[in-house]
Amino acid sequence: MTSTRARISKAVIPAAGLGTRFLPATKATPKEMLPVVDKPAIQYVVEEAVAAGLSDVLMITGRNKRPLEDHFDRNYELEETLTRKGDDSRLARVRESSDLATMHYVRQGDPRGLGHAVLCAEPHVGDQPFAVLLGDDLIDPRDPLLSRMIAVQEQYGGSVVALMEVDPASIHLYGSAAIEATGEEGVVRVTDLVEKPEAAQAPSCYAVIGRYVLDSVVFETLKKTRPGRGGEIQLTDALRELAHRDDKGGLVHGVVFNGRRYDTGDRADYLRAIVRLACERDDLGPDFRAWLRSYVNEEMQE
Ligand code: G1P
Repeated sequence: MTSTRARISKAVIPAAGLGTRFLPATKATPKEMLPVVDKPAIQYVVEEAVAAGLSDVLMITGRNKRPLEDHFDRNYELEETLTRKGDDSRLARVRESSDLATMHYVRQGDPRGLGHAVLCAEPHVGDQPFAVLLGDDLIDPRDPLLSRMIAVQEQYGGSVVALMEVDPASIHLYGSAAIEATGEEGVVRVTDLVEKPEAAQAPSCYAVIGRYVLDSVVFETLKKTRPGRGGEIQLTDALRELAHRDDKGGLVHGVVFNGRRYDTGDRADYLRAIVRLACERDDLGPDFRAWLRSYVNEEMQE
């Protein structure tokens, strides 16, 4: 590995989606602001980027996403009231999100797909590798993934996707990867990618989950990528092209993730995330677990 290469420092978070699966909650509130216990889902994602050393965060937003900007900004009125009351712990909670990272925003305008959203990041990112974190995927903070992906990108170059083995019945919800072993535990070479295939056509049950570390050559590729599945410009299609190339910026590797991931874009998984994370909390966990145990016992007697 060459030591002259700049360390990856930028994270891109696409957050322009409408969140129709959560209507009516998302009628006037961005889906990214739905709380997981007492923190908006998006804050976990920004915290994950920061924990992996990425303190420059670009959010790709759209109309009706102003609350996202407000959440990561100061709220002087609230801070002043809490200061006056001497409520230091709540004051710290308020400041947490505004002190987290250097935030930037760009609007997607036309919602033309994930690939198009990533392309909106080009002027900000420039020609360095960068990370993409999808807001619907919540990776449990105890199971770090992104820092491993960054290390793999630094070692092999090219781009890196996160892969998770899923049930064949679910592969149609994801990008699916054809893979080859590299000899390194948990790291594979991606030789092909298909966006949301039927189970019979899927190259494998390794699903792309919402974390990517990309070479900036992806921008040129995205500009040439024709609309694919759902008539949208798919990031998976651009990565497929890069997986087939081994010239500068080409090559795609996968880091296989076995940790805890929640799809907060899915209502049942969103509830699971809340229950699991609440159980683990020092402040809420003990009482909540006790209640949960008695609730489950009651349910089992019925
Ligand atoms: C996107 C990607 C898909 C990936 C998924 C992970 O799909 O297009 O390849 O597997 O995220 O969550 P979406 O779920 O946004 O439709």
